[in-house]
This record gives sequence, C-alpha cells and structure tokens, in this order.
Amino acid sequence: MHGGEDRNVGNAGVWNVEGEENMESNLMEALKARGISRREFLRFCGLMAGTLALPAGSIGQIAKALEARRRPVLVWLEFQDCAGNSESMLRSGHPTVADVVLNLLSWEYHELIMAGAGTRAEAVLKRVVEEEKGKFIAVVEGAIPTGADGAYCTIGGRSALDIIREVCPNAAITVAMGSCAWDGGFVRSAPNPTKAIGTSEALPGVRVVNMGGCPANAVNMAALLTHYLAFNSIPELDAYNRPLFAHANLIHDQCEKRANYDAGRFVEEWGDEGHVKGYCLYHMGCKGPEATYNCPTVRWNDQTSWPVKAGHGCIACASYRFWDKMSPFYKRLPSVPGFGADVTAGNIGAAFLGAVAGATALHAVGSAVRRRVRAGADARTKPAKKDEPREKEE
Ligand code: SF4
Ligand code: F3S
Repeated sequence: MHGGEDRNVGNAGVWNVEGEENMESNLMEALKARGISRREFLRFCGLMAGTLALPAGSIGQIAKALEARRRPVLVWLEFQDCAGNSESMLRSGHPTVADVVLNLLSWEYHELIMAGAGTRAEAVLKRVVEEEKGKFIAVVEGAIPTGADGAYCTIGGRSALDIIREVCPNAAITVAMGSCAWDGGFVRSAPNPTKAIGTSEALPGVRVVNMGGCPANAVNMAALLTHYLAFNSIPELDAYNRPLFAHANLIHDQCEKRANYDAGRFVEEWGDEGHVKGYCLYHMGCKGPEATYNCPTVRWNDQTSWPVKAGHGCIACASYRFWDKMSPFYKRLPSVPGFGADVTAGNIGAAFLGAVAGATALHAVGSAVRRRVRAGADARTKPAKKDEPREKEE
C-alpha cells in the first residue's frame, strides 16, 4: 500500500467508491472481503487458463503466482471514447472477473471510478509516473485527437497527446483497450473531423498491446493482465500486437452456425423462418469469415451469448479499422478470389459430391475455401501503409 496524503487520493479515491479503503493487500483476504471464495477464485483461474489456451495443470500455477504477487499500480487514461470499455471491464457478467481484476491491481487513477478530482487527481497520476516508473500498467481507452493542437480532448488543460506521451513511455506495459484506443475506432472513421489516431500511432517506439473490440471483451483483458502478473510476460501477439490467444482463429471457423453455412441454410430476411431457426447470417452481412476473435468461445454476459448467437451478424468489431473497412455492415462480403462469395462450402460440396470421391475431396475443397477466405481476410485487414480507409467493395 502506498502512504502519504496525496498517495491516498488514488487508492482511497477508487476504493472509497465502495467503502473499502482499508482493504488488505493480501489477495485472498481482499477477495474474501468482497465475498469471493477460494473456490470462485480458482474458477476464475480456470477461466483464465482456458482463455489463454493453457493446460489445465497451469490453474494451480496461476493461482499461486497471483496470490504471491505484489499488486502493481494501474492507471487508466480515458480520452475520446464512450467509456464502453470501462463498462465492459467493471460490469463484466462473470461474477468474479471484475472483482479479481480490481483486487489484483492497485487502481490509482481511473477518472470514471475515482472519487478524487481536479488537481488532486492529476497529482496522483504525476506521482505514479515518477515513483512507479517502469513498474506500473497504463491502460488507454479512447482515441487521441491530433487536430487543432489536440484541443478536442484536454484534461487539466493538457491534451490527450501530451498526457500519453508523458505517461505511457514510463509504464511497464501499455494496453490500448478497445477499438478507439487501438486504431482510432469510431472517432477516427471517415471523415475523422478531429484527426483522431490510435495509441501506438501516437506513440511511435512505445510497445502497445492492442485489445481490439468495440468494446473489448473483459475476459480477454483479464486474461492478458493475469498472464502478465502470473508469468511476468505478455502473451504472444499477432501482427497487430493483439494477443494471439484471442485472435488465432476466424470467427467463422468457431461459429455454432457453421453447419448451416456449410449446408447452404441462410437467413435471407430479418425475422424469416431461417432467422427463427438460427440459420447462418452470411447473407445478412455477417463478417465472421473475415474476422478473427474468440467471441464464440469467450462470449459475453457471463459467457451466455455473443452477437451471432443472439441473431445478429458479426461486424468484425475486433478487426483493424472495422468502421471504415467492414461497412456497410448489412451487405454480404465481396467475392472470395477464385470462388464467388455466394458459393458456399456447401454448394461446392454438393457439386463435388456427385463427381468426386466423397469426404476427402470435400475436406480438401473446404480447406482450400478456408485458406482463400483467410487470405482474403488477412489482405483486407492488413495494417494499412497509408492512413486512408480501404475503398468500399460492392
Ligand atoms: Fe457464423 Fe457468420 Fe460464418 Fe454464418 S457467416 S457461420 S453466422 S460466422
Ligand atoms: Fe464483435 Fe463480431 Fe464478436 S461484432 S463482439 S467480434 S461477434
């Protein structure tokens, strides 16, 4: 725990919200005080191990490491945003995700939940940067406006750009949570009146872990933080610096409606019989074949559902600059090279079944389609060389 008058503003500021300023530093004691049993804590560790694709044997290792770990300081910077990622994190449906994450870290600065305000709050941020240099975790939520010298978003008279330039290079790790912090998100979408950009673009040379999603899934964020705390390292990242555990597979390849896609059963109109029966949403614009994310397995709302299960196509909200590159959201994907986008694996399968020897060929064709779809997805969402959105494809 930190001492001193100013120091209490951060910690006590946050925790006073729930009246827990005397919280024990020991993790299990703190969780107990919040009504979280050891069994629930181990369930949380199991969820984290599963999300990180670690073997079941690692659950005990994670639990032990988290219990022994000093609570590092976290500062959460909020700029051009809707606070959706804070909401996603703090209101996570899983009963223990928010509780455990709140207790694993010493949340010293978070405008949305801290009681301290004004110069006292800003003094906390300054102190963390000076005294916790190289040790604290910085989370950025929201885009960074660069137009009008940053005047579109200022805090305490300083622009968002000034603040992240001071805070993030001094952090142990910087995490951009959500689409706006990652690539500028909705704020940056055309015509981008405030000239907003994402965190890593604003901080050349600073390594930023990008948690895509609009909002990012709290379970993934918890898994990232758990990995960092338990193993002292960040998990493997992809070309966009997103955690591979969340982006290794296409949504389409994990989707529970995939059998309908393969069999050519599609929703053709909202509310039609196919919609009622839970058919594939590809004809309604679903971007699952082009998007990677672990939505189908991690899900939302206490792991009960996700957009496609709820009957809406995926709009690829965890993909690079999806607002510009994946809209219009209700139009079918453009043609996959070599096969028309309308030619489904099911259609291909049906054509081949009559002429070619069964399952082996079908599997080979299916794999070829998937490779082509994936190649198309990779090309479409490759990090842009220029700052321009991809041209809309009809
Ligand atoms: Fe699922 Fe969408 Fe793929 Fe259909 S197109 S199987 S709804 S991800
Ligand atoms: Fe986003 Fe698609 Fe999941 S829209 S929440 S990645 S299903």
